[in-house]
Amino acid sequence: MRILGIETSCDETGVAVYDSEKGLMAHELYSQVRLHADFGGVVPELASRDHVRKLVPLVKRVMESSGSTRGDMDGIAYTSGPGLIGALMVGCSVATGLARSWGVPALGVHHMEGHLLASMLEDPAPKMPFVALLVSGGHSMLVEVRGVGQYHTLGETLDDAAGEAFDKTAKLLGLPYPGGPALAKLAESGRPGVFVFPRPMLNKPGLEFSFSGLKTAVVIATRDLEMTEQTRANVARGFQDAVVDTLVGKTVKALKQTGLNRVVVAGGVGANRALREQLKKKVTAMGGQVYYPRLEFCTDNGAMIAFAGHLRLAAGQVDDCPMQARARWPLTELPPLTANH
Ligand code: KG4
Ligand code: ZN
Repeated sequence: MRILGIETSCDETGVAVYDSEKGLMAHELYSQVRLHADFGGVVPELASRDHVRKLVPLVKRVMESSGSTRGDMDGIAYTSGPGLIGALMVGCSVATGLARSWGVPALGVHHMEGHLLASMLEDPAPKMPFVALLVSGGHSMLVEVRGVGQYHTLGETLDDAAGEAFDKTAKLLGLPYPGGPALAKLAESGRPGVFVFPRPMLNKPGLEFSFSGLKTAVVIATRDLEMTEQTRANVARGFQDAVVDTLVGKTVKALKQTGLNRVVVAGGVGANRALREQLKKKVTAMGGQVYYPRLEFCTDNGAMIAFAGHLRLAAGQVDDCPMQARARWPLTELPPLTANH
C-alpha cells in the first residue's frame, strides 16, 4: 500500500510518500520561517496563502522523486488537526480533491499522532507499549501508548507548552523567531548554575507541567541586569536546564507510574540536544530505552503524516465525514486501530 502524506497545520509544508514494503520513499519540506520572521511569529493568513503556493509543486516533486504515478497510489493522508484552521484547510482541500480524482480514499490524520508515531520510521523502531513525551510548540504532554489510537494522557501542561516557553523566553532575550533552536544554541555557550530557575511542578505529585511561571522568573531575574552576550547565554542555559530537568523528571515519574520502560520523544522540542542527552542518561540508568525520530522528523513534516495515515488506511479505516479541518482535536478522541476497522 502506497500513501501520499500532506502536512500543513502551521508554518511548514510537508509532503511524503510511504510504502508498506519499501518504507519512506520520498519526503519534501518547505519551511515558511523567512516569511514570518519579520513579524516575530506565525501570521496565520500568510501561512495559509504560502501553503497554497507551495503544496502542489511539492506533491509533484515527491511523486517524481519516489518514482510514483497516480496509479501506484492507494490513499492520501492529510493533517486534519489540531492546528491553524486556514492552513489545515489547504492540505485538506488538496488531499480531498486529489483523492477524488485518483479514486482513492483520503484520511484525516491527527497531527500529534503523527509526531507520536514518527520514531517508528527509525531503525530500531520502538515497540508498544511505551510512554511518549510529546513536546511541541502547541502541546506538552505525557501519553501512555498501548497501541495505535490507544492513548491515555498521563499529564499535560496547565499553561504554556514547552516549545511556547522556549519561544517566548527567546523573544525576551532578543533572539529571532523561531526562538527555540536559537535559545538552545545560545545556551551552549552559557555557564550552568549562574541563573537557577524554578523546576515548575517537579516536586508536586502528578504528571502535570507548568511553564508560564518560568518565563516570569526569567523576566524578574533579568530586569535590572546589563545584558552582555555572556549574561544572555547564562540565562538561556539556566532556562534550558530548568525545562529539561522538569521534562526529564516527569518522564521518569511516568515510567515508574506505568511500569513501562520505553520512552518515545516527539515534537519540535524533541530536537533539543540537552533534552535528548539528559533523557537518555536518566532512562538508560533505570534500565529503559529512549527512542527519537531523526532531527528533521522531530519538527513538523509530511513523513509522519504519511506513516500514521498508512497505518490507519492499511487497517481499513475510513473517515465518516470527508474533508475535516479541526483547530482543536483531543488526541484521546482517536479511535483505536482494530483488525476490523
Ligand atoms: O512540533 P513542532 O515543529 O510544531 C508544532 O506542532 O508546534 O514544534 C515547534 C516547536 C517550537 O516552539 C520550536 O521553538 C521548538 O519546537 N523547537 C525547539 C528546538 N527545535 C524546535 N525547542 C528547543 N530546542 C530546540 N532545538
Ligand atoms: Zn508539530
